[in-house]
Amino acid sequence: MSQDKVTIFDTTLRDGEQSAGIGLTTQEKLEIARQLERLGVDVIEAGFAASSPGDLEAVQKIAAEIRKPIITSLARCYIPDVDAAWEGVKGAEKPRIHVFISSSDNHITNLLRKNPEEVMDTSVASVERAKSYCDDVEFSPMDATRTDPEYLFKMLEAVIDAGATTVNIADTVGYTIPSEFAQRIEDIKQNVPNIDKAVISVHCHNDLGLSVSNSLAAVRAGVRQVEGCINGLGERAGNAALEEIIMAIETRDDLFNVTTNIDTTQIYRTSRLVSDITGFPVQPNKAIVGANAFRHASGIHQDGVIKDKSTYEIIDPRSVGWPSNSLVLGKLSGRAGLRSRLEELGYQLEQEELNEVFDAFKNLADRKREVTDQDLESLMSSRRRIADVPTIYELEHVQVSTGDHEVPTATVKLIDPDGQTIVDAATGTGPVDAVYQAINRLIGVDNKLTEFRVDAVTEGIDALGDVTIRIERDGDAFVGRGSDTDIIVASAKAYMNALNRAMAMQGPQ
Ligand code: KIV
Ligand code: ZN
Repeated sequence: MSQDKVTIFDTTLRDGEQSAGIGLTTQEKLEIARQLERLGVDVIEAGFAASSPGDLEAVQKIAAEIRKPIITSLARCYIPDVDAAWEGVKGAEKPRIHVFISSSDNHITNLLRKNPEEVMDTSVASVERAKSYCDDVEFSPMDATRTDPEYLFKMLEAVIDAGATTVNIADTVGYTIPSEFAQRIEDIKQNVPNIDKAVISVHCHNDLGLSVSNSLAAVRAGVRQVEGCINGLGERAGNAALEEIIMAIETRDDLFNVTTNIDTTQIYRTSRLVSDITGFPVQPNKAIVGANAFRHASGIHQDGVIKDKSTYEIIDPRSVGWPSNSLVLGKLSGRAGLRSRLEELGYQLEQEELNEVFDAFKNLADRKREVTDQDLESLMSSRRRIADVPTIYELEHVQVSTGDHEVPTATVKLIDPDGQTIVDAATGTGPVDAVYQAINRLIGVDNKLTEFRVDAVTEGIDALGDVTIRIERDGDAFVGRGSDTDIIVASAKAYMNALNRAMAMQGPQ
């Protein structure tokens, strides 16, 4: 018997980007979109075109470049929004317009301040407008799980008649539980007479920690599109984590009996990329992609896994693209060895890029002796972070003097936008503060440091240190990342990365 396919709809670039503290450049969104295409998602929600000129530009660029998945933009049920969404996606190989409006009494009264009839009419008019542009139209009743069922059935029937090809049942506030949600899907199938003309989709938030369970219960009840974000990003407690839904469907094929287009070996890489670019860490015990997801700590478990992996492992880590932590390369490895290992990890480099990576690798191998796959992943991801953010000021050199009887003092040398070397020094409460004060004296971009985090990429005293910071400037948040075996240098790189991003997005002053 052939299996049904579940459409995987990724909204990392829209709902995920709505997570407090995330702000992505167009380049970064494109990079994530390219990786989502490699992962094999069916739909990429590239943004909310009407929300800002930057969002519109990002949607347009993604629509122009990413050809395999459907590209969609969100739009309120408001004609200018629908028009902007079309402006965003019209260059796509497979465009979709996604319109939404609140359907619950609570939202209609307290948020929209309209009456239910007006909301119904606006929904139909917006779907009709979207349909005048493209065949593929998705409609989402927002807060559907707190909506009067009879009103929801009528609304779905009306928008399907108006041309909606997907209807997306949104658990906007993460309120439902799996049994209730599955029943609601069954009721929709029974009570919306034209439901066979549309795909039923779900969009679950994680306020009660149930978003993945609710989405899976809905799949069992017959929905054939699931929305979510990589690493469970999204408003408040986030959206359903797509990697968890995908691996549940794969692993419990016996229960779901559906397929997806996903290349699961791209899951780890996608999760890392999204975490790198957004600066949102993945908790160590996170299912599928957390650092401990495939680690066995207790003696009994280790014994079991040595005898037979199936005793405690329900997923082969390689099936989600997990890199090995064994020694792969060292000081004496050559360019060919590096190229071949990087290719095995999925990185195809042009000669010039390989030369640059080789220099960085040699530098690392000199200081660290043993270079693992995780080190290589980190090296590639820090290159990516720098490549995605225009270098307005470049860090040339940093030197600190510190100690328990000394005032921490830093000297920093930068290359300014005219190519001139500029130098200054400052003292601080600690060595990192001293470096940041010196950089502030040189660049003079007013900002507030709101987060500072150091992670070790691998174990051991010689591990690469990965620094993530978040700064706020004029109410917007900007993330910066930097890695080095010296955490002061990594901190300086992270700060420069955040400042360059802020200047690229908001201008220098
Ligand atoms: O959570 C929600 O209701 C949404 C809709 C716009 C689909 O994000
Ligand atoms: Zn949402």
